[in-house]
Amino acid sequence: MILRFANHIAEIDISGIRKSFEAAGADTINLGLGQPDFETPDHVKEAAIEAIREGFTGYTMNLGTAELRAAISEKFRQDNELEYSPGEIMVTSGASEALFLAIAAVVENGDEVLIGDPSFVSYSALTRITGGRPVSVPLDPDLKISPEDVAERITERTRALIVNSPNNPTGSVQTAEELRALADLADDHDFALVSDEVYEHMIYEGEHISPARYSDNVITVNAVSKTYSMTGWRLGYVAAHETALQNMLKIHQFTQASASSISQRAAQAAITGPQDCVTYMREVFKMRRDSLVKGLRDMGVELVRPDGAFYVFPYVGDGDAAASRLMNAGVVTVPGSAFGAHGARHIRISYAAAIEKIEEALERMKDIL
Ligand SMILES: Cc1ncc(COP(=O)(O)O)c(C=O)c1O
Repeated sequence: MILRFANHIAEIDISGIRKSFEAAGADTINLGLGQPDFETPDHVKEAAIEAIREGFTGYTMNLGTAELRAAISEKFRQDNELEYSPGEIMVTSGASEALFLAIAAVVENGDEVLIGDPSFVSYSALTRITGGRPVSVPLDPDLKISPEDVAERITERTRALIVNSPNNPTGSVQTAEELRALADLADDHDFALVSDEVYEHMIYEGEHISPARYSDNVITVNAVSKTYSMTGWRLGYVAAHETALQNMLKIHQFTQASASSISQRAAQAAITGPQDCVTYMREVFKMRRDSLVKGLRDMGVELVRPDGAFYVFPYVGDGDAAASRLMNAGVVTVPGSAFGAHGARHIRISYAAAIEKIEEALERMKDIL
């Protein structure tokens, strides 16, 4: 018997990022990574161990524990000037699940989702999984999504716009004015602005602004994954006004039930505990960014200085060719085409790697870039 698969799923490509990892050899320097290269802080690990010892190992409320949602609510107030009550917050399995819930709650067959091109690989794939159609919004010369470019692409079928600042893969940070203009478009045209803020604490110039300050149509997605170096704990959250949250809850209830009880305890310790680990990571990332940007510029490589996240997205002419030549020279990067057709002239270089590795990688890059 031959299984038949749904066409709209079969047509989705396996992530280009995974493909580049699988090709890596032993002496290669991996600058393809999308996760911080730090340990999860000890006090966070301890909270998880304590949860296990205590037997806190069952399902939790679908929305997540009351304690964690209260902590997230307070975090929104302090960090983002947002008033989300615990009833407007749901804990998810990473930002990945939160993004899926946000898109699945608003998209029906053939509906359109506006997505920056290039952008994080999940956005267009999740749109297709839910039967929607990704509509690409080419980034402007500063590698940002511009409200004018978004406005031109709004149609009757537009259900969502995804904004990601600081940005993966470009490292760009949108200004308050840009975010307000994007939020106004969501209000004027009744679509959801899904704001993916997982890199909010990795900003080296400028400040992080949550667009939910400007509109009730915003669905805010975040996670402890990048902020506290907890990608493997699979712990994220989504916040939105109550009707939107209830609709997302229906999907979460039947696909996930609840996020891991142990990871929820760990996340609570991370969010309510000392924040010097975050400051430390930010300082180290900034130092590495400066070295990488300088090293690339000294070679004559063209790039827009990334103000956030932990990626540089230089212009290299032909990204696929450059990434493959770098791979042969023992440096893993990700071709920009993995993030959308408009990324094809770039590569993404992650600086979630020790400074010595970055310096060695720069040496190896010299002959190639
Ligand atoms: C922009 C962006 N959003 C979401 C995610 C997924 O985060 P999580 O590990 O919390 O699912 C990533 C991971 O690389 C990302 O870069």
